[in-house]
Amino acid sequence: MSLDLSHSFPERLHLELTSRCNYKCITCKHGYVNYGEDLDDNIINIILNDIMPHLKELELQGTGESLLSSKFMKVFQSAQENNCKVTLITNASLLTEDIIRKFVRANMQLVISLDGADSETFKVHRPTGDFDKIKSNLEMLSKYKRDSNNDLFSLVINMVITNYNYQTISDMLSFAKQYGVDYVYASEVRECMPDKKAWDKLRIDNATNREEIIKSINNACEYSKEIGIGFTFNPYIKNHKLCKTLCISPWKHMFVYANGDISVCCELNTVFGNITNSSFKDIWNGEKLNQFRNDMILKNYDYHCTNCCLPWGLTNE
Ligand SMILES: C[S@@+](CC[C@H](N)C(=O)[O-])C[C@H]1O[C@@H](n2cnc3c(N)ncnc32)[C@H](O)[C@@H]1O
Ligand code: SF4
Ligand code: SF4
Repeated sequence: MSLDLSHSFPERLHLELTSRCNYKCITCKHGYVNYGEDLDDNIINIILNDIMPHLKELELQGTGESLLSSKFMKVFQSAQENNCKVTLITNASLLTEDIIRKFVRANMQLVISLDGADSETFKVHRPTGDFDKIKSNLEMLSKYKRDSNNDLFSLVINMVITNYNYQTISDMLSFAKQYGVDYVYASEVRECMPDKKAWDKLRIDNATNREEIIKSINNACEYSKEIGIGFTFNPYIKNHKLCKTLCISPWKHMFVYANGDISVCCELNTVFGNITNSSFKDIWNGEKLNQFRNDMILKNYDYHCTNCCLPWGLTNE
């Protein structure tokens, strides 16, 4: 299959509406540092007017809680009006009945982040969160999802796998099944926190009990088939084998951070410009991003591309 390298506009926008969060998860930078800002209103207007009409997909994510943004509904509704599929990754703490009703009628993938299927495991990972609140939001979601019978809406749980929860993956699958969840993504914990010692306590890639961990993942795979729920495990393994020569991100995807920085994915630590002081077209068609595209064509890969965990990246089939 050949890759269409036309790129007048991105087709998929990853948008960090805010880098603020109401949680302090131990797997995340917010667990260790106080920070956060909202995307400027002028930038949101540029996105809605100039980029949204060209998009096929909008992914609301980043290192913050999108539902904290006062502009969330405006952006969500604009995506719906432009027939653009929305993916939202959320801690689910701020869902309300009104929001849930809108979501279940939409063309949307709603990803709930949950690292424990019982209150104890939940609290270890998301210490400031309220497990009962999340469960009651999931109950509401499950009910409205069933009633809406909308094939375009899917409900997913993203579980970050750490040293403290790898034994509980099958429990999460049972929990997900109970709430009508379509799919569970299990992602191996990555080094997102500034404290190296904290990362060492959580990581499972160099654990001495790796065999036990793999057994737990394999059991979960089997169990997911038994109970009929989608399941994938996304490992964190350095020096992945390259499976393809080009990744679509530099031609098709744009990532806008809450401070206006622009990249093409969340994996690179390269910024191609800032939308506060350049037009998005100048950045998208600019020298720095074109050089990055050319380097990829010439197989001069960025280090992050050769270690990328994203499904469309170079290391995945
Ligand atoms: C950074 S959060 C932002 C969205 C939202 N606040 C949430 O938690 O869903 C995006 C996703 O990254 C996951 N995540 C957090 N820390 C991680 C880590 N160290 N490794 C891999 N995924 C992580 C979260 O569980 C969540 O599914
Ligand atoms: S993982 Fe999400 S909910 Fe948890 S602290 Fe980070 S941004 Fe907030
Ligand atoms: S391979 Fe991964 S890191 Fe490189 S551009 Fe693609 S998505 Fe980004």
